[in-house]
Amino acid sequence: AAYETFTDEKKAISYIKKKKKYPLVIKADGLASGKGVVIAETEEQAVQAVRDMLEGKTFGSAGEAVVIEEFMEGEEASVLCFTDGTTIVPMISAQDHKRIGDGDMGANTGGMGAYAPAPVMTKELDKIVYDTILLPAVKAMKKEGCPFRGCLYAGLMITKEGPKVVEFNCRFGDPETEAVLPLLESDLARIMLACAKGTLKKEKVEWKNACAVDVVLASEGYPATHSSGEEIVGLEEAKKTGCLVFHAGSMKKKGRYFVNGGRVLNVAAVAPTLKEARDKAYEGVSKISWRGMQYRHDIADKGLKRLKKRK
Ligand code: GLY
Repeated sequence: AAYETFTDEKKAISYIKKKKKYPLVIKADGLASGKGVVIAETEEQAVQAVRDMLEGKTFGSAGEAVVIEEFMEGEEASVLCFTDGTTIVPMISAQDHKRIGDGDMGANTGGMGAYAPAPVMTKELDKIVYDTILLPAVKAMKKEGCPFRGCLYAGLMITKEGPKVVEFNCRFGDPETEAVLPLLESDLARIMLACAKGTLKKEKVEWKNACAVDVVLASEGYPATHSSGEEIVGLEEAKKTGCLVFHAGSMKKKGRYFVNGGRVLNVAAVAPTLKEARDKAYEGVSKISWRGMQYRHDIADKGLKRLKKRK
């Protein structure tokens, strides 16, 4: 996306004033736990976001510089890959849900749920992403004498002009990981060792022929703040549904579990179809509760719609 970076508030605001196309994306340049992005729908909101970051320091030192960026229209996809610096093995694609509310409404979060594979990624797009995004990035890092080994995460927007990079992360994605890794048939430790040793080419990386859906359960007030201390009930019942329950912002005290963060749990399910995985994940979610628990009810809906259209 077209962008400019600013540390000076006046210069940033005069750049905004020249922009005619909205939404406009305002980003804190540093790390902000996935929350340092404001999608401004109006000039007023854009100016306010810049002021909040540069003057109000809403993101602390992460907001000392702001990036003002073109809004890319399309559907998001996350393509993670294993690499040993030369060989690249893409994982099954996934789609995150960044907004707090159903229908992609409300504030940006670290991610409220994911599903894999993402039907927005066709075989043709997989090849374009490999040839024009993953391969050039990995090759360039090697050429610069800084080969990257491990998990490289390409956050993409699938626009009308094709896939564009929103961000790269040098880590697994959250909540994508909880949807992607349950589909991995091969041994993750062997693959990571091969990445470290530079022998990924020889490694077999196999995937289950199935789908996975992961729903994030968040605490009251997230993403602006979060509550803590509420007791989490129903974990055993959720496990009986066959779901995987991953703990994040939780804590265990004397065998009982309590809320201790914004994104508290991930409930993930694997099934032969996306619809079955979605239904199973939400069955697991229905067993768990605490005061103020919030979650999205439409994880995987975009993928299901796309599959329906294709039929
Ligand atoms: N799901 C977005 C991230 O992990 O950055």
